[in-house]
Amino acid sequence: MVIKKICCIGAGYVGGPTCSMIAYKCPDIQVTVCDRNDERIDQWNSHKLPIYEPGLDDIVKECRGRNLFFTTDMDPAIKEADLIFISVNTPTKTFGVGKGRAADLKFVESCARKIASVANGPKIVVEKSTVPVRSAESIINILKANTRPGVEFQVLSNPEFLSEGTAINDLTNPDRVLIGGETTPEGARAIEELCWVYSHWINRDRIITTNTWSSELSKLTANAFLAQRISSINAISMVCEATGADITEVAKAIGTDSRIGPKFLQASVGFGGSCFQKDLLNLVYISECLNLSEVAAYWQQVIDMNEYQKSRFAGKVVERLFNTITDKRIAMFGFAFKKNTGDTRESPAIYVSKYLLEEGAKLHIYDPKVEEKQIFFDLVTMMPTEDPEGVKELVKVHSDAYSAAKDAHAIVICTEWDEFTTLDYQKIYDSMLKPAFLFDGRKICDHEALVKIGFHVETIGKRVSRSPLLRVMA
Ligand code: NAD
Ligand code: UGA
Repeated sequence: MVIKKICCIGAGYVGGPTCSMIAYKCPDIQVTVCDRNDERIDQWNSHKLPIYEPGLDDIVKECRGRNLFFTTDMDPAIKEADLIFISVNTPTKTFGVGKGRAADLKFVESCARKIASVANGPKIVVEKSTVPVRSAESIINILKANTRPGVEFQVLSNPEFLSEGTAINDLTNPDRVLIGGETTPEGARAIEELCWVYSHWINRDRIITTNTWSSELSKLTANAFLAQRISSINAISMVCEATGADITEVAKAIGTDSRIGPKFLQASVGFGGSCFQKDLLNLVYISECLNLSEVAAYWQQVIDMNEYQKSRFAGKVVERLFNTITDKRIAMFGFAFKKNTGDTRESPAIYVSKYLLEEGAKLHIYDPKVEEKQIFFDLVTMMPTEDPEGVKELVKVHSDAYSAAKDAHAIVICTEWDEFTTLDYQKIYDSMLKPAFLFDGRKICDHEALVKIGFHVETIGKRVSRSPLLRVMA
């Protein structure tokens, strides 16, 4: 088989950019990305794409209508395709067995059933969504139960490792591509077909092939290790604050050890995003199901440390503002879970906002890429007992940082957007109530310069000298 047509089910943060990149790098392949969400598909077909990802617009503009198509009409796309990616969401279950921990595979299963019912020829089905180890088994079972003469399926695991905000670079120059498949001649042939697609732009020595279960487990393990690094550095940041050590200096000192490496040692308000917590919870759940309670407890601690870091940061805001923030105006800079994305899933900013709102604060939020309606949706969802109108009375979303900070008692930086490093902080200080506080949850500002202006600055993993004003008050 030569792959001429690819179909991708799921036009989200993974399916959209991944398949746009395949279309861009493989002009000989026709790529159709499907989703059941009309609004999302309309946006993919418009000039304002549903996700903000630097570099993505240009790629979509070049390929859309040529060999890249976005549609809700799934059946013909599945029928025509030689290879089908399943890139649907696999959120944490919210009810039933494994509630709050296990991955919900209902969307993956419904894709398998759809493919089984529609396919009229041989297909390679590729599990791109992040799934628990051995998930491909259910896909294989559903598909094989529906195998008809001339309709044969091979199921591969090809997890995605891109990060939001750097997706285009990650897809262009991945550290590796991982493909798992059955250890049979048919499985090996299917792996070869997918290798051929990626080898349009990626060296073969960067394409790792394994058995299906190793591939599935490697994805969960990669996220668990990355999240563990953040919880580890955040744990040490607390020791720094208590002792006068500086976490940036510690991170540099340990990161130069080539066995440790410099990346992912940025202490922060805590990690967010749609995957780390979900995938860790899933690993914990799998370990428990395998009767490996020590393993489960080990990985659970990475999540617990992250929860502690978020609540510790929010608690520090209240404590420093003289233990009461009722009716105080607090400016939040950033709401996305990291810079260069408009994605707010599991953003630490949501957690911090909830904490501050529960303490009676009035929040004035600014984020360069998150829409106002998304901010209200997240806050109302996070505070289900609050009346939505009540939340709206306590929160105002601004279109620039200066208006958010005007008349505020404090600024809380939750996302490391570059523009927050180049603001005119003298102008901001002049417009704020005094004493003016700045809580830098991302360690991005020049703290000494802010102290000189008059701010009282608090950050992660470092004691900042107190502003002269507060020294007088002390
Ligand atoms: P997403 O929520 O952005 O997109 C998933 C899309 O699938 C949605 O648009 C939804 O409407 C669609 N969908 C769900 N069920 C469908 C069905 N039956 N038919 C058609 N469309 C359907 O999710 P995402 O962030 O793209 O993540 C997808 C998977 O990739 C998850 O398993 C995630 O863990 C994994 N992953 C995500 C990232 C990331 O950075 N977001 C990176 C690597 C891996
Ligand atoms: C992460 C992984 O990095 C990807 O490899 C993986 O494919 C993806 O999850 C996934 O499976 O979804 P992503 O969540 O998009 O990617 O973003 P990251 O850059 O990993 O950041 C996650 C969170 O950790 C963010 O809130 C970020 O601010 C925080 N972080 C990251 C830190 O606090 N410190 C760091 O040093 C790095």
